[in-house]
Amino acid sequence: MTGDDAFARVVPVNTQRPYKVHMGMRVLAQMEQVMAVEGLVPSRVLVVTNPTVQALWLREVEKGLASLPWDVAVIPDGEAHKNLKSVSSLYDMLAGLEFDRSSVVLALGGGVVGDVAGFAAATYMRGIAFVQVPTTLLAQVDASVGGKVAVDHPRGKNLIGAFHQPVLVLCDLATLETLPYRVYAEGLAEVVKTALIGGHELLQFAGDHADELLRRDPSVVCSVVEDCVRVKASIVAADERDLGSRMQLNLGHTFGHAIETSCGFEGVSHGEAVAVGLVMAVNLGVQLGVAGADLLHHVEHLLSRLQLPTTMAGLHAHVTPGAVRRNLRADKKRRDGRLRFLVPRAPGDIILVESVPEELISRVISESARGSAT
Ligand SMILES: NC(=O)c1ccc[n+]([C@@H]2O[C@H](COP(=O)([O-])OP(=O)(O)OC[C@H]3O[C@@H](n4cnc5c(N)ncnc54)[C@H](O)[C@@H]3O)[C@@H](O)[C@H]2O)c1
Ligand SMILES: [Zn+2]
Repeated sequence: MTGDDAFARVVPVNTQRPYKVHMGMRVLAQMEQVMAVEGLVPSRVLVVTNPTVQALWLREVEKGLASLPWDVAVIPDGEAHKNLKSVSSLYDMLAGLEFDRSSVVLALGGGVVGDVAGFAAATYMRGIAFVQVPTTLLAQVDASVGGKVAVDHPRGKNLIGAFHQPVLVLCDLATLETLPYRVYAEGLAEVVKTALIGGHELLQFAGDHADELLRRDPSVVCSVVEDCVRVKASIVAADERDLGSRMQLNLGHTFGHAIETSCGFEGVSHGEAVAVGLVMAVNLGVQLGVAGADLLHHVEHLLSRLQLPTTMAGLHAHVTPGAVRRNLRADKKRRDGRLRFLVPRAPGDIILVESVPEELISRVISESARGSAT
């Protein structure tokens, strides 16, 4: 076994049409072999990426696709380009190059590239095969698994989308080394969310290895990515179409979304909002009497060690208790008049609470704004 092979892992995703998540260190260069192991021999490949990832990682993919015919499509970087215009440019390329059902669309990038390329693959010729090669921590532990593909619309995020499972996911842990810290930290917030959903062992491991996680120690990152993918895979397999239990993946996101909306999705990253939202969700569990204060301390401590915010205090001038309350109310109006909250009773035990008393929500918000959840 070479040093790099030590990080090789395979996690099955048992959806209706099952597929595997392969992960390892410097596995991009082995792309073709991994595809062959999975019985994938495409007639040609369209690699979809953005200029940032292209500059950093396309050469490795080039090595990995040595004997397969492939082309590259570059969409602009950023959430602002997760739209139908980018998808349309991919249709033009796929049609212009006469791609057909024996071809593969390969998404090389973060969640934005994955969602855009996935939506194009889901709809071109009523669906062609799609390989995810996620290069951010968030995309590796969350976005690349589960088949939700979507683009934004001026009226809402992820408003236009489909379910289209990839045929293979290939996570190269080496790609995480080039992530700016802020982007890496976004993924850490989703790691804490997944650990809370996954259970005590994963949460404990993340806590015991927070420093290594922070400095991207390969063996700790490898273990955490693998465990998070396992958690996500089992949730997706149980509820592929998001009709019930898959909802738990939104833990911390109701409060988080209200925070992001308060500052117009600028100045506070999604990860920061989710980190604060997670603490608020646990605090709501405490206020409701279903979770213990020890869980709240544990989650706060873990997020702080990962250098993520735990309270609304000092987050952004526009993130005020009033604004967050208003946005939660607007959310409620949009969704059949009910405001439901996911709260953990314990790690691995997430429940959906309907009709939470207003005063408890207000208390959670004002405690977070004061900078103390406890
Ligand atoms: N489909 C799903 O189930 C799902 C789940 C969660 C999130 N999402 C979506 O994912 C998106 C967020 O994904 P994200 O956080 O990966 O953002 P992103 O795709 O915008 O990537 C963040 C930044 O990192 C850069 N980058 C990517 N890989 C890099 C690397 N290896 N080295 C250096 N820079 C790199 C990108 O160019 C970008 O500037 C959102 O649109 C969200 O809606 C989808
Ligand atoms: Zn999220």
